[in-house]
Amino acid sequence: MLPGFLIYLSWIIGMNFASAESGHSEVSCPLGYFPCGNITKCLPQFMHCNGVDECGNQADEDNCGDNNGWSQQLDKLFEKHYEKFGVNSYDSEMKEAECMLGGVPAQCLCRGLELDCDGAKLRTVPSVSSNVTMMSLQHNLLKKLGPDTFSRFPELRNLYLQHNKIRTVSVNAFRGLHNLTKLYLSHNAISILKPGVFQDLHRLEWLVIENNKINRISPQVFQGLNSLILLVMLNNFLGRLPDKPLCQYMPKLNWLDFEGNNIPALSNTTFSSCTTLTVLVLRKNRISTISENTFSYLSRLDELDLANNRIEAFDPSLLRDLKDLSQLNISYNPIQKIQAEQFDYVLSLKSLSLEGIEIPNIQRRMFMPLKNLTHIYFRKFQYCGFAPHVRNCKPNTDGISSLENLLASIVQRVFVWVVSLATCFGNIFVICTRPYIRSENKLHAMCIISLCCADCLMGIYLFVIGYFDLKYRGEYNQNAQAWMDSTQCRLVGSLAILSTEVSVLLLTYLTLEKYICIVYPFRCLKPGKCRTITTLILIWIVGFIIAFIPLSNEHIFLNYYGTNGVCFPLHSEHPESTAAQIYSVIIFLGVNLAAFIIIVFSYSSMFYSIHQTAIMATEIHNHIKKEMTLAKRFFFIVFTDALCWIPIFILKLLSLLQVEIPGSISSWVVIFILPINSALNPILYTITTRPFKEMICQIWNNYKQRRSVSNKNRQKAYTPSFFWVEMWPLQDISPEMRPGLYTDSEVSTTTHASRLSYT
Ligand SMILES: *[C@@H]1O[C@H](CO)[C@@H](O)[C@H](O)[C@H]1NC(C)=O
Ligand SMILES: *[C@@H]1O[C@H](CO)[C@@H](O)[C@H](O)[C@H]1NC(C)=O
Ligand SMILES: *[C@@H]1O[C@H](CO)[C@@H](O)[C@H](O)[C@H]1NC(C)=O
Ligand SMILES: *[C@@H]1O[C@H](CO)[C@@H](O)[C@H](O)[C@H]1NC(C)=O
Ligand SMILES: *[C@@H]1O[C@H](CO)[C@@H](O)[C@H](O)[C@H]1NC(C)=O
Ligand SMILES: *[C@@H]1O[C@H](CO)[C@@H](O)[C@H](O)[C@H]1NC(C)=O
Repeated sequence: MLPGFLIYLSWIIGMNFASAESGHSEVSCPLGYFPCGNITKCLPQFMHCNGVDECGNQADEDNCGDNNGWSQQLDKLFEKHYEKFGVNSYDSEMKEAECMLGGVPAQCLCRGLELDCDGAKLRTVPSVSSNVTMMSLQHNLLKKLGPDTFSRFPELRNLYLQHNKIRTVSVNAFRGLHNLTKLYLSHNAISILKPGVFQDLHRLEWLVIENNKINRISPQVFQGLNSLILLVMLNNFLGRLPDKPLCQYMPKLNWLDFEGNNIPALSNTTFSSCTTLTVLVLRKNRISTISENTFSYLSRLDELDLANNRIEAFDPSLLRDLKDLSQLNISYNPIQKIQAEQFDYVLSLKSLSLEGIEIPNIQRRMFMPLKNLTHIYFRKFQYCGFAPHVRNCKPNTDGISSLENLLASIVQRVFVWVVSLATCFGNIFVICTRPYIRSENKLHAMCIISLCCADCLMGIYLFVIGYFDLKYRGEYNQNAQAWMDSTQCRLVGSLAILSTEVSVLLLTYLTLEKYICIVYPFRCLKPGKCRTITTLILIWIVGFIIAFIPLSNEHIFLNYYGTNGVCFPLHSEHPESTAAQIYSVIIFLGVNLAAFIIIVFSYSSMFYSIHQTAIMATEIHNHIKKEMTLAKRFFFIVFTDALCWIPIFILKLLSLLQVEIPGSISSWVVIFILPINSALNPILYTITTRPFKEMICQIWNNYKQRRSVSNKNRQKAYTPSFFWVEMWPLQDISPEMRPGLYTDSEVSTTTHASRLSYT
């Protein structure tokens, strides 16, 4: 235990020294580090935006949100604006304003030249003074907008028609609104917009038609929108966009949002006239093909969002003319291959989203040219190691590991050593001392030593994980992928599986042996040497097969062990291959669950059986206490098994039901729960058993004898106790005794008597 701690301490101290020294280095920081504003200090990437002011001047906590692309800014603006003119949001000073619209319907509010009829159950547009400049008719029952509906209100600047039941819009509905600047038609049931419907809206700047049922548009629809800056057609049913230039009549269009439609493809004529576009949002469509030069005319594009589409091939040359692009989102597309030179044309990129994209060929070359990149988003945290100059990389952990450490939590980093050493020490101790217990059945000893060997492997597994955690301390992200793909990781993972499986099978075997002897004493024969050895060999062979099958075929199992930093196939960040999934279910929920049920069942029946016999034989007051001891022991054996395995069964079951399990839970399971059995088996099956205690007592007595002549205590050590101890009920059976007689030290004499009286 101590060496681990010392190494650990020296590391912590070393780390602090390193960071203290780096304070005196020059301004330009090494790869993977970022500068602290205008002071000469560099910090590792992972300290950026972690909520702690490590720079001393807050520079590392600056710039944490991704404010790239002006959509974010505009979004805020948009929200503010929306709020201002939305439901019940008039300023208090406006409330004072006197109504200048003459008579207005009773349900409406009027201030100055503005009319607010939100939620007034109106079926038609109210008739008010022609001087009205703002009309809000949200949450009403308007069904259609007939010809010249608004021509009576030529001074209108803002018109809000959200949340009505509008199905049809006459081509002349908005005639004469020469001063209209903002028009909202969201949350209606409009399915078609006729060409020329916006013809008079020369001053319209914002047109928002989200959540309608529009399935087709042509460029002519937008005729007359000479001043339009923003067009939002979110969540409609748009299919193929017209092949003709879409922005033909919208020479000032800045922001175009087609999110949540059914657009299947983009052709290179569609955006050819949209030269002023700065934001193009095509998220959540069905785009699978993008013809070449589609974005060629968008030289002022600042943000391009193609996330959640069906793009499989994304040619680097598509981005060729997007010199000003600062934000690109191609997350959640089934892109097969990201090329090394994929982003060579978009050098001003500041934010790049590649979430949900597997990049098997990831390399630094891809992101190297993007000098101004400050935010990058990946599918896996270990990809961050390939973009070391980017200040903000997400995700920065998979729950088990973080960018800096193989084991994310400091408690885990320490306890991996503690548990490893405890497990190794306990088991090696038993392996060494067991042969010296004189009064013991050699075959039983062999089983126990075998069990300890298997448990010891778990300690070795944890030791290796701890070692690699130390080795990669502080720079894990640069080694993560290599580590998970390495042979060491696979071997150490199979070692852990070998250990658990052999341990589980051995415990089951020992339990069954004991069960048969106690519950069916007449059928119980002394297990032969041959049989025991064959069983042991068989168990180890099965363990090896289970552990090494996944290494045999990479095509079927992919990287079965290397799905996470601890190389244990319990938690996979992402769907594994089907074979791997089935295999791990068979192992964890098949073999191990069956073994667990057998163990629980056997111990319960054994206890019941002994309880029954004891009742017949002994006086009550005596045996209650003894039975309690027995029950306690059985309980602990079953309890530690349950403690170890039930969480694992539950985890596996949940992951089978597709419940998202945080990786951190898995790492706690691997470090604290999985080794419970391995660490406690030496205690349960050897150190607390009677022969062992006797041996210790004897050594102690011998020692005392040598010092003084008195040996009063000697007899005490041999008084029979009901501490029902050993695993093996039938040792040292002398040939002349009938089967079923208990002469060994395990079952107390009272139980003997009861058995004898039975026979
Ligand atoms: C760093 O910048 C801050 C203001 O941004 C200024 O107050 C401070 O003096 C500067 N420090 C140095 C060392 O230039
Ligand atoms: C509109 O306002 C003008 C003065 O601002 C006023 O003379 C005119 O009567 C108003 N029209 C109506 C219909 O209220
Ligand atoms: C529109 O607004 C301008 C000034 O912004 C004003 O002169 C004009 O009278 C308004 N009405 C129409 C119908 O153009
Ligand atoms: C548009 O894309 C087609 C292929 O879809 C291509 O043949 C054509 O040359 C492209 N036109 C321009 C102007 O790039
Ligand atoms: C990119 O798109 C995904 C999916 O829609 C979204 O979750 C993510 O927030 C986007 N990234 C940025 C930086 O906007
Ligand atoms: C990167 O950012 C700097 C400072 O904002 C700017 O001067 C430079 O032109 C940018 N580089 C590219 C390739 O856009």
